[in-house]
Amino acid sequence: MAVIGAGTMGSGIAQVFAQRGWRVVLVDAVAEQLERALGSIRRNLDRQVERGKLAAGERDAVLRAIEKGTGLESARDCSLVVEAVVEDPRVKFEVFSRLGELVKDDAILATNTSSISVTEIAAHASRPERVVGMHFMNPVPVMQLVEVVRGLKTSDGTVNRVKEIAVELGKTPVEVNDYPGFVSNRVLMPMINEAIYCVMEGVATPEAVDQVMKLGMNHPMGPLALADLIGLDVCLAILEVLHRDLGDDKYRPCPLLRKMVAAGRLGRKSGAGFYDYA
Ligand code: CAA
Repeated sequence: MAVIGAGTMGSGIAQVFAQRGWRVVLVDAVAEQLERALGSIRRNLDRQVERGKLAAGERDAVLRAIEKGTGLESARDCSLVVEAVVEDPRVKFEVFSRLGELVKDDAILATNTSSISVTEIAAHASRPERVVGMHFMNPVPVMQLVEVVRGLKTSDGTVNRVKEIAVELGKTPVEVNDYPGFVSNRVLMPMINEAIYCVMEGVATPEAVDQVMKLGMNHPMGPLALADLIGLDVCLAILEVLHRDLGDDKYRPCPLLRKMVAAGRLGRKSGAGFYDYA
C-alpha cells in the first residue's frame, strides 16, 4: 500500500499499516518531511519497545517495511493508496487525477480528508467507484475509529474491502455517507467552536472550559487542548466548509479562532495555541 503525504496523519497511517504486516511506501515530495515522519514513527516504536509492548526485532521489521518515495509513481503497483496530503481541494484533486491514471484498475484509492467532499475528489479520478474516504483520527496509532466515507459513486465492493482492512488494522470502521464534515467533524467542530466562544466572551478561561468538559463529561482532553492537537488552522478550515456547504450560521467560525490563525497561533505544531507548548 502507499500513503501519500508524510505529515502527522500520513506518518501515523504508515506506522499502523506496517505494524500489521503491510509493505508500505510513504510518499512525500519533500525529502526532509519523509525523514521527520520516519523519525516520529521510530520514536513511537521505541516507546512501545521501552514499555515492553513490542520486541526490538519487531520494531526493526516495521521500520524495514516502510519504503520512502518522493513521487506518486512509487504508488503505481499498490493495491491500496491512502492520500493524506494538505487539506486543500486543488492539491487533492490533482493527486487523485494523477493516481487515477497511474494505478491498476482494481486498486482502491482512499482519502483521509477531514472535510472535503469524497464525491468531488472521486470525480477527479478515473473509475470513481473505487474512491472512498478512510478517515483516521489523530493520534492514528491510538484512536480506535476509522470513519469510512461513502461517496455518491463509491461501490459496495470498495466500501466493504476498506472496512475489512480497517478491522485487519485493529480499528473499528464506521460507515457514513458523504456530507460536509461527515459525522466526526460535524459533531466535534461545533463543540470546539462553542468552547472558543466561551473564551472570547469571557465566560471562562481555556483551562476552566477544558476542566468542565474533562471532569464533567469524561472527555479524555478538553475541547481547547484538542483544538491545539488538531491544529487551529485545520479547525478553521473545517468550520468554513461546514458553514459554506451546509449554509447554516450555527457553524460560523468564532472570530477569536480566526484571529489566532491569522497570528500564526496554530496549536501544538506552532508552539502555542490556547496553551503554550514551548
Ligand atoms: N502518537 C502515538 N502514540 C501516542 C500519541 C501519539 N501522538 N499520543 C499518545 N500516544 C500513546 C501513548 O504512548 C500511550 O500509549 P501506551 O498506553 O501504550 O503507553 C497512550 O497513547 C496514552 O497516552 P498518554 O498516557 O500519554 O496520554 P493520555 O492517556 O492522556 O492519552 C490521548 C492521550 C490518546 C491523545 C487522549 O488524550 C485522547 O484520546 N484525546 C482525544 C483525542 C481525539 O479526540 N482525537 C480525535 C481528534 S479529531 C480528528 O483527528 C479528526 C479530524 O478530522 C480533525
